[in-house]
Amino acid sequence: MRERLVISVSGKGGVGKTTISALLTRIVTEKTKRDLLVVDADPVMNLPRALGIEVQKSVGSIATRLRQDIDNGTYSGEVAKQDVLEGEIFEALVENPKFDFLAMGRTEGEGCYCYVNRLLTQILDTLSQNYEITLMDMSAGLEHLSRRTNRNVDVLIIVVDPSRAAYEAALRIRDLAKEVHIEFKKIVVIGNRIPPDMENDLRMKLEAEGLELVGMIPSDEELSRANYRGESLFELDGKSLAVKASDSIAEKLGLLSEATLLRLLGQEN
Ligand SMILES: Nc1ncnc2c1ncn2[C@@H]1O[C@H](COP(=O)(O)OP(=O)(O)O)[C@@H](O)[C@H]1O
Ligand SMILES: [Mg+2]
Repeated sequence: MRERLVISVSGKGGVGKTTISALLTRIVTEKTKRDLLVVDADPVMNLPRALGIEVQKSVGSIATRLRQDIDNGTYSGEVAKQDVLEGEIFEALVENPKFDFLAMGRTEGEGCYCYVNRLLTQILDTLSQNYEITLMDMSAGLEHLSRRTNRNVDVLIIVVDPSRAAYEAALRIRDLAKEVHIEFKKIVVIGNRIPPDMENDLRMKLEAEGLELVGMIPSDEELSRANYRGESLFELDGKSLAVKASDSIAEKLGLLSEATLLRLLGQEN
């Protein structure tokens, strides 16, 4: 059986999670034929634009309707709810030639519908079984970790930019991941827009905290221009700094060859 890898991209707001998720998606689809599911788990839903795709339905909107139906007493049996939700989520799946995409969106309404959340987690777990790689662009908040909606995450990527807040958020995310006993095979840090003269210092600080800096994405003017024009990161020149840097990060994470992936998964963090 082939290995299945689930990767979450986490970190403080604005550090570059969506950018890095889109760059990794581009590299994996350009360089491999691996089955890839990309999930936008941030309710703000910036990832579709970065990937240049259109999304009609989110899981959140489907779940909201299910909640209303439960409140109205439309559903009687447990099985019915799970089936309905599962069926509809397959409808929300956007199938592209090179990867599939799912937007989690947000559920509306007061209070926590833990039942619906639990169903969503189960369905996402089941869905990701069908893909070699599931890549999730997470929200800035830490609640996705404490609610354990990504239980089977293998690799946690924490993105930091050159700010104290991003660094402190990275340590908090790591601690929280441990507290809720999410079993990460590996937790790594990607530095985004870190000035070259800060790199060594950051690497050492992270190492002292037991965190590995796997790579850096430089500040890229071409990326800024593309973003400003509303273009996807697939339209960015392959020679641009950010694309080249994400290529070597993908390689290092073992996303481009099965052999490295197996080695990576054999490695305990
Ligand atoms: N390396 C980079 N070079 C230039 N612009 C970047 C870079 N990384 C991120 N950005 C820009 O910074 C903004 C925030 O990035 P984003 O990926 O949306 O952050 P997050 O998803 O963590 O909130 C976006 O406008 C993005 O285009
Ligand atoms: Mg984002």
